[in-house]
Amino acid sequence: MHILVNTGGGDAPGLNAVIRAVTLSALRRGWKVTGIRRGYHGLLQKDSDGLVNLTRDSVRGIAHLGGTILGTVNKGHPFEFITEVGGKKVLTDISDQIMERYRQIGADAVIAIGGDGAFRIANRFAQKGMKIVGVPKTIDNDLSCTQATFGFDTAVMVATEAIDRLHTTAESHERVMVVEVMGRYAGWIAMHAGVAGNAHVILLPEIPYDMAKVVAHLKRRYTNGRRYAVVVCAEGAAPKDGTMSTIGEELGREIRIGGLAEHLSAEINKLTGFETRSLVLGHLQRGGSPTHRDRLLALRFGAAAVRMVEEGKFGHMVAYHPPTMVPVLIEDAIKVMKTVPLDSDTVQTARDLGICLGD
Ligand code: F6P
Repeated sequence: MHILVNTGGGDAPGLNAVIRAVTLSALRRGWKVTGIRRGYHGLLQKDSDGLVNLTRDSVRGIAHLGGTILGTVNKGHPFEFITEVGGKKVLTDISDQIMERYRQIGADAVIAIGGDGAFRIANRFAQKGMKIVGVPKTIDNDLSCTQATFGFDTAVMVATEAIDRLHTTAESHERVMVVEVMGRYAGWIAMHAGVAGNAHVILLPEIPYDMAKVVAHLKRRYTNGRRYAVVVCAEGAAPKDGTMSTIGEELGREIRIGGLAEHLSAEINKLTGFETRSLVLGHLQRGGSPTHRDRLLALRFGAAAVRMVEEGKFGHMVAYHPPTMVPVLIEDAIKVMKTVPLDSDTVQTARDLGICLGD
């Protein structure tokens, strides 16, 4: 057997642990493992930089490292690749060239480590005949059919620690600190880190917020003598009568979400007169070492993916259904985005603790 492995979409802590587990599990079976660099693009590179032979040595000491030794891309979709024609940028389908090279290599399977975007691509390659097994990665935790994706726990840990630190400076200066966390259209990071970090207001994409309610909550705190507050907003949260904040558009990639914390901070200051400051945690949430939980999950996902290749479960993703790993169809995993259920215990806990959710 010869298997290929790639990492696609935004990086997430734990990618290297999956690569290590895939490589060691495959080598133990006497298989050959090749890493594709930069998503699928390495398959089109003629030089030796595009593909890397994965050995025991190349995956030694990487399980605890952030990022991915294979590199990744979250633009340059193979079915909508950006090329220049007559000085103009246009989107071109280069998937057939990738399929041709895949067939030429004669690999038996591809283990694709990615989130929903990478799985949408994987699903289209699977329809063209690529034998794919997926491993669910995303700090956003928005992938369906699996109880967990690796990367999320680390992102929540980083965000919680940041929120903890903001409490002391907010209180010393009697300020409202507004912190924006990642998550795209799902509020998982904001909800988990916000509740764990004792935020006073948490805004999620799942609950369109009412600025008047947020302001009333903050004013009540100040009137009661607690003259500071920490507001956690998911980057994708939006007011009930408005739209999500975005940062410009780029050809060939999904819309970039961002800018909410700065906007909220200015609004709160205008409506309350309280001093405010804002910050965006951004890619800090994706960088660095995975927590032990993400590391273990990633190693388990990688080993399970190799078992699934052995069993011929192509077109499937490894899903964590505690206590085991099970195969689920990739097309099922990308059907619906997993968002924070409003009747979940964590949301109820936030309400019971008196945290304002903007509604
Ligand atoms: O999907 C992961 C994620 O980190 C989102 O939470 C965020 O909106 C996006 O990627 C940021 O992408 P980029 O790395 O291109 O800025």
